[in-house]
Amino acid sequence: MIAQMFNHYLTAKLVIAVNEVGLFQLFESNKVITPADLIEQYDFDLVGARDLLRFLASQRVLTRGPKGYQLDEAFKEEYEQNFGMLSWLLEGYGNVVAQSHPILTGEQRYGVDIVRNAKKMASATAQISAKNTDSFMFKLLDSLSFDHAIDIGCGSGMRLLQLAQHYPHVTMSGIDISEDCCELARENIHRHGIEKQINIVCSSAEDWSDNITETRAEHGRNLILCFAMFHDLLNIPGCAEQMLASIRQNYPKGTYFVIQDQMCAPEVRVTNQDWVEGFTFVHRLMGQSLYPLSTYQTTLEQAGFAVRETVSTSIPENYLILAELV
Ligand SMILES: C[S@@+](CC[C@H](N)C(=O)[O-])C[C@H]1O[C@@H](n2cnc3c(N)ncnc32)[C@H](O)[C@@H]1O
Repeated sequence: MIAQMFNHYLTAKLVIAVNEVGLFQLFESNKVITPADLIEQYDFDLVGARDLLRFLASQRVLTRGPKGYQLDEAFKEEYEQNFGMLSWLLEGYGNVVAQSHPILTGEQRYGVDIVRNAKKMASATAQISAKNTDSFMFKLLDSLSFDHAIDIGCGSGMRLLQLAQHYPHVTMSGIDISEDCCELARENIHRHGIEKQINIVCSSAEDWSDNITETRAEHGRNLILCFAMFHDLLNIPGCAEQMLASIRQNYPKGTYFVIQDQMCAPEVRVTNQDWVEGFTFVHRLMGQSLYPLSTYQTTLEQAGFAVRETVSTSIPENYLILAELV
């Protein structure tokens, strides 16, 4: 088991590094790569290039043929589907996990002594969603009619971009408490040249109603999204309730509210081989719990929202909830 960890750890670190420099793109279209290609395009030295390719082949990231190396088919499929998970853990939360010991002994505190890499975390979350939850989201949203969409905790802004492409007549607002994430979202939106359709407001979910005129359709129906962050609010006593009360005060009946989030695992689980235990532990390092689906349903209903539909996504214990202000 330790030998496996040794190799898995090194492979994971190298996959992140290789991805960062764009090396995986070199392997696209089943191209055969040799050490000479790495030397030419990435300035590697000969021994380094040869040993990197050789190690990645030993771990089945690559396959080695008579003319050089190709991306392993099984790895390629996994990489396309799940790279966001690895990036979330190693790039978003790498320094938090590395400090597990002082955090668990209380010597250091998340948010005070140690913080995550907000931009990397937000980009990785967007990648995870794109592969695992967005198709469920579009299926749900396509059945609704709305004129303005507000994404609370918009992170990288990638969801807003996708929504803007899918619903070109809908105006949109993104709200995020993190300056870094707002900057990243604005950069992503600027890159696509659709600033007119989407505005980003740096504010907390609890009191974004100060900016309410920028984030509400004057005529027509509003759709409010809260993706991969409702648990952040549930972890601060009264915070989710405060946000829902503010929505109730400022938005008309009929406003849609859609949550997507990672819930906790049931006490007894058949498997521990998926992501859920890891998600739970990393959140624990941040002093956070994950909650069962029933907590979401009760919180919404007590705040005057009717839960219309609950959909499970392709990540275990990850759900979409469609609610409506009544
Ligand atoms: C895990 S990320 C999810 C990003 C995006 N919703 C997605 O699904 O890709 C959570 C985001 O919520 C933001 N956030 C956390 N607490 C918040 C709060 N109280 N008010 C506004 N944004 C918050 C974080 O800054 C972060 O960008």
